[in-house]
Amino acid sequence: MWRPLAEIGRAPGGGYARHGWNDAELACRAWFAERAAERGLATETDRNGNLWAWWGEPGPGAVVTGSHLDSVPSGGAFDGPLGVVSAFLAIDQLRAEGITPRRPVAVAVFCEEEGARFGVACLGSRLLTGALDPARARALTDPHGVTLAEAMRAAGADPDAIGPDPETANRIGCYVELHIEQGRALTEPVGLASAIWPHGRWKYDFSGSADHAGTTRIADRRDPMLTFARMVIAARARAIETGALATVGRVLCEPNGTNAIPARITAWLDARAPDEATLTAVTRAIEADTATASRAHRTGLDVSAESLSPAVDFDGPLRGRLSAILGGSVPVLPTGAGHDAGVLAAVVPTAMLFVRNPTGVSHSPAESAGDGDCAAGVRALARVLAGLVDP
Ligand code: GLV
Ligand code: MN
Ligand code: MN
Repeated sequence: MWRPLAEIGRAPGGGYARHGWNDAELACRAWFAERAAERGLATETDRNGNLWAWWGEPGPGAVVTGSHLDSVPSGGAFDGPLGVVSAFLAIDQLRAEGITPRRPVAVAVFCEEEGARFGVACLGSRLLTGALDPARARALTDPHGVTLAEAMRAAGADPDAIGPDPETANRIGCYVELHIEQGRALTEPVGLASAIWPHGRWKYDFSGSADHAGTTRIADRRDPMLTFARMVIAARARAIETGALATVGRVLCEPNGTNAIPARITAWLDARAPDEATLTAVTRAIEADTATASRAHRTGLDVSAESLSPAVDFDGPLRGRLSAILGGSVPVLPTGAGHDAGVLAAVVPTAMLFVRNPTGVSHSPAESAGDGDCAAGVRALARVLAGLVDP
């Protein structure tokens, strides 16, 4: 299962560069269609570019599993694909056992979950559930200025069709996403998710005056790099103070010349917290500290929210059911990572299975999971599907 997928979209610096509607992501879509065809599963692409492979007649009450195939820049092999690979293998397992589901089963792949290309995480599931305005989505741009609408058209998809899709959403009876755990919290091979921390992304635009590095007196400078530097330090300090997490992992500098004071810095803040009040507190504090620094350095500052994901508490009865199916002693843990399951949880009963991550490393080429744990994940998912399709 992994071998053909493993070669798709390798990033020059290691890991994968599979981003919404790029060539690598289109190749992942083809991989998905091939795996579905091998199994005689009918495939569909919905209005928002999400993929569906059906075991049984597509229709309401479906037990849906799956994940995403896109990656962060230089992402690992497991974040996303493990849930899709495991879904196909769990179906193989149930078929080998002679199980005929009484409810339709679907394997779903949600589009641009990481938001690595167009900035908004969980793009496909947000559009599907109506959580993202389609006009805003069409106008989102990638780092090269290509809009989502243009990227979809180039890939042969219709951007005018994107938006809330109740017909597709109404077929989902429940959604169970299997995912690699992304920290060191899971010490057993398989666990269940209780909750997702609220999180979001903020774009910081810092502007100043481009000038000569050798002739501009310190007193005359309006250097946005300094304000940006204060913002990075504030993010760490305020995160520690509030018990939140705050990260600056992406930055652009213009014109990016060694011997020139920059004209503009653009940076993205990713912040997460155990509750929404703390998330609001940490992001406001970072913004206030940055505004103070901006005044001191006489730079311009503009802050805008790019995507917000509220706190998610996964469906208690569904989790109870999964726990009973899996024998009752499965560890239950929250996560600071975002997932399409979190978006879908607003409209359908949703659960997540986690597979142990021995190093805890994720969003990195070094992400790994052991074969034995991945197999345990497939077995757990197969048991869960078998239980859910035979109510
Ligand atoms: C997605 O993996 C996220 O948590 O950003
Ligand atoms: Mn991820
Ligand atoms: Mn993921």
